[in-house]
Amino acid sequence: MSASEKMPYFIKPSISFNTQQKEIAYAQAKQELSLLLDEDANNVTKMASINCILKTHLPYYYWVGFYLMHNGRLEVGPYQGTLGCLYIDLDKGVCGKAATTKETQIVADCHALSQGSEHIACDPNSLSEIVLPVFGANEELLGVFDIDSTLRDSFDDVDKKWLEEILADTFGV
Ligand code: SME
Repeated sequence: MSASEKMPYFIKPSISFNTQQKEIAYAQAKQELSLLLDEDANNVTKMASINCILKTHLPYYYWVGFYLMHNGRLEVGPYQGTLGCLYIDLDKGVCGKAATTKETQIVADCHALSQGSEHIACDPNSLSEIVLPVFGANEELLGVFDIDSTLRDSFDDVDKKWLEEILADTFGV
């Protein structure tokens, strides 16, 4: 079962942001997260809050969520968006590549990739994507952070910079 092209009532198509808009939005989101998440926050609380605050400030975020390492594969964790696939093997998809390379992956056009191997299309509306590895306090791989847009080429080094900072500040301590 996967999401259909028809978007449910609670989800809207992405709206593009330029570099200046991104810088302002990420700075605001980072500040809100630092004020919100105290040392008592567990990882589920942190992930759910990151999804909510980033999706609030960045209108090109269509699907946003975490896949967590468990039993040698990625298993869906907290997310916002249409139905995400539950499990991803490490040799599949953009998420699998981010987990195995331990490097951020930016995809300008998801549909240009080999479907089912290089890219897994949980939702046909997703056209571009960024996936970042998530490291814990001991630099262990906790999983990946996956963001999709319904527009091509939504993500760039500005997203990479801010998201790597936010993830390190939140989970790396
Ligand atoms: N597109 C991802 C799969 C997760 S769905 O987008 C939520 C991938 O190719 O790994």
